[in-house]
Amino acid sequence: MVKSGGRTGFEEWAAHFSEIAPALTVKFWEDAAPHEVDYAMVWDPEPGRLAAMAQLRCIFGAGAGVDLIVRDPDFPAHIPLIRMTPAGAAQRMGDYVCWAALHLLRGGRRMALAQARGEWEDFSCASAPDTRVGIMGLGVMGARTAAMLRGLGFPVHGWSRSAKGLPGVTDYVGDAALGDFLAATDLLVCLLPDTPATRGILAAPLFEKLPRGATLINAGRGAQQNLPDILAALDSGQLAGAVLDVFEPEPLAADNPAWTHERLTITPHVASLPPRRERVEWVAACIAGIEAGRWPDKIFNPELGY
Ligand code: NDP
Ligand code: OXD
Repeated sequence: MVKSGGRTGFEEWAAHFSEIAPALTVKFWEDAAPHEVDYAMVWDPEPGRLAAMAQLRCIFGAGAGVDLIVRDPDFPAHIPLIRMTPAGAAQRMGDYVCWAALHLLRGGRRMALAQARGEWEDFSCASAPDTRVGIMGLGVMGARTAAMLRGLGFPVHGWSRSAKGLPGVTDYVGDAALGDFLAATDLLVCLLPDTPATRGILAAPLFEKLPRGATLINAGRGAQQNLPDILAALDSGQLAGAVLDVFEPEPLAADNPAWTHERLTITPHVASLPPRRERVEWVAACIAGIEAGRWPDKIFNPELGY
């Protein structure tokens, strides 16, 4: 049973499933009787619907972040919730963050605005080896992104709850290390999951701990950022630029002043969006494994919240 992308999107999901895993019966969310569902694939389910599925063996998130699923007050926490992590997802996130990092480094927004005005405005900028990147969250997305940024010549360090020991990436571990991590960061990249501990973290008190003129990329979750604080930090020069992929709520309202800020680049939650076919291949392989007694490892941990 699938709820992601509405009925139009469902036709594409169903076409891929019928080609890749023809033995599965795939139904749209609204057409499936709750008692007949063994596996559910969802992004933002209606509260209470998953809890009503008495035979449910497992839930697949249609994305890597499952915050919109677990916010359901009746979310059945005893049923395994598997986070979508096909092989290409972390590579895509790395592609996005490398693009955003170079866009910030080279003044991409400034050049686009000058082009729109028809103005020839030349300027010099820092280079990658002089720009220390700090990544918040060194999980599936963060680890691959760190390796790719290093390949571009950026010095990279990371902040997470446990040490990772990634090649060439300095670890800063836990809340006690956050201040030192931020003080050493010229470009801050947020790839954290949305949890009570991370919600609202990207706000004025954190920006003040960064060197003046640092830049920000957030591809984690919109709930982690205080957008008015980001705009104020861009206005004051505490932040020199930002690229934001995620918002709360989404889509970002058409009249939000963030759209037109001259130091801010907005992307519509596309940092890592694997094609539906790739995600269906991955879900079908997971179901085949589960039926044979092999569970995937990216299972949501209700105690940690990710
Ligand atoms: P993982 O669970 O693999 O990694 C999460 C990382 O965050 C881990 O390193 C974890 O530390 C760290 N972390 C969690 N809580 C804290 C905390 N309180 N303090 C410090 N570190 C913390 O997740 P993924 O890498 O797969 O995905 C991360 C998030 O990226 C998703 O939840 C989603 O929100 C977002 N995302 C966005 C996409 C987009 O298109 N914009 C696409 C895909 C994901 P530790 O390793 O020690 O547990
Ligand atoms: C996400 C995703 O979690 O798109 O944002 O996978």
